[in-house]
Amino acid sequence: MIEEVPEKRLNRRTRGERNKRRERYFLFNESYDYDTESDDLSDDMSPPSTPPANNNFFKDGEKSSGEGKPKTSYANKTTERKDHLYKILVIGDLGAGKTSIIKRYVHRFFTQHYRATIGVDFALKVLNWDENTLIRLQLWDIAGQERYGNMTRVYYKEAVGAFIVFDVTRITTFESVAKWKTDLDSKVQLSDGSPIPCVLLANKCDQPKEGLVNNHNKMDEYCKENGFTAWFETSAKDNINIDEAARALVNKILENDTLLNVESAKDQEKFSITKEANAQRNGKLCSC
Ligand code: GTP
Ligand code: MG
Repeated sequence: MIEEVPEKRLNRRTRGERNKRRERYFLFNESYDYDTESDDLSDDMSPPSTPPANNNFFKDGEKSSGEGKPKTSYANKTTERKDHLYKILVIGDLGAGKTSIIKRYVHRFFTQHYRATIGVDFALKVLNWDENTLIRLQLWDIAGQERYGNMTRVYYKEAVGAFIVFDVTRITTFESVAKWKTDLDSKVQLSDGSPIPCVLLANKCDQPKEGLVNNHNKMDEYCKENGFTAWFETSAKDNINIDEAARALVNKILENDTLLNVESAKDQEKFSITKEANAQRNGKLCSC
């Protein structure tokens, strides 16, 4: 006898199909209905077959030119509208709360249920930063166990910001923070060679804390010495400071973006002046 399959079950996408749709979305900016899939995130922990690592589309200021290239900026008739896409890494030890923070930030929910991330998972957060600026944060949720693997270099590529997460109830996760930071700084830099901005998250602050995190001044010092942009006590469970931490990171990224764009504009100007001067010297260009 043939078993009847409920219609709802037939309409569900398989995990492979969902991963493919996500990849297409990230690589080609095809429309992607995140809301309908958000509740399935816990189901979707398998790594994509290819991490979207070409990432040319992260370069800011690039004009959209049709299919295959996501829009990164565009202008309308009255105002210059900016549309940024930033790749953000979320790293830290196993069970520190990376996935929970992302779920809270993007999908606005929390579960006590722990399911270790395998490889990497993705989420997209869209921010209407101001009336002329739309920011899309592509969050790369990298499994804690990946520090012992050799994929981090691939995952970190083209990132412009990072969160390092530790669990305030387990001091060993704080001890690993420096190792994560060293790994990060050695494998990814901004186009001028400086480290990417990194915000430290002392997660699970709804629980009793262990170690240095109990002393705010010492934590400030630690962050300064280790090159963190800022640090925040967060709780994915109680929704504490997650939006604030993200805002601090995005502010820093925008600041860097402006500086780097100014520098590259200056370089281009210098280059064209030198080119023109050389051409004149060689009699190839008429100055009249
Ligand atoms: P890996 O994927 O293995 O690297 O772990 P992870 O860093 O993604 O940890 P995950 O978000 O899966 O959380 C691990 C456990 O900690 C889960 O049981 C969560 O419910 C719990 N947890 C996460 N954040 C908080 C928090 O802010 N407070 C409390 N009390 N528990 C939390
Ligand atoms: Mg996880």
